[in-house]
Amino acid sequence: MTGPVGSKRVHVTAFACSPRRGGNTDTLLDSAITGAEEAGALVERFNLREMTIAPCRHCGACADGGGDCMIEDDMQRLYGLLRGADRIILASPVFFMGLTAQAKAMIDRCQPLWVMRNLGESVACAQHERRALHIGVGGSDFEHLFDASRLVLASWYWTLQIFDRRELTFRGIDAPDAIRDHPTALDDARAAGRALVAPGIAEK
Ligand SMILES: Cc1cc2nc3c(=O)[nH]c(=O)nc-3n(C[C@H](O)[C@H](O)[C@H](O)COP(=O)(O)O)c2cc1C
Repeated sequence: MTGPVGSKRVHVTAFACSPRRGGNTDTLLDSAITGAEEAGALVERFNLREMTIAPCRHCGACADGGGDCMIEDDMQRLYGLLRGADRIILASPVFFMGLTAQAKAMIDRCQPLWVMRNLGESVACAQHERRALHIGVGGSDFEHLFDASRLVLASWYWTLQIFDRRELTFRGIDAPDAIRDHPTALDDARAAGRALVAPGIAEK
């Protein structure tokens, strides 16, 4: 599934984090995935609204049990992918100035990976540098609209050992298909998906 970029297809794990199916976030993610696939990647998409991912219980089992979460739900499908994916895309609208509950529940459930990372262990299977792309959209024009999301994602990326971090954000996008009226957004997302997959200097 994973391996050095260039030796086999780049594996992208993509998270759609809006509860609104077919809304702005989904449309942007569709375009980014198209770009990634055009660049040769193998993309696996997860619509978090369709998955059962309980909030972290802070039970401590992951700290006691070697980094395994004891909650048996759809999050168990994601741990291996989060450790192994060459590229990760997280697409979320802004809800109350932060990521959606769907996104935050998934991120909080990465506590087992945080525990292992804090113990100094490598949580990433990949030997090469991994990359992440944050796609954000919000209804208002507020200058600091994405600040809270960025902070959460910085913590998540550190946990996942992802240091090549990219973002594509759009303000003032509120109606479900408003992003389609944006002059460049879908092309921008497609280009970002392509660039995410393109090999880095160390990978050529
Ligand atoms: C519960 C909720 C909270 C929201 N909070 C914000 C917010 O804090 N700031 C903002 O600019 N837009 C906010 N919005 C608007 C959405 O970010 C906006 O409609 C976005 O385009 C939705 O993306 P989607 O079509 O992918 O679901 C909120 C919408 C909802 C439903």
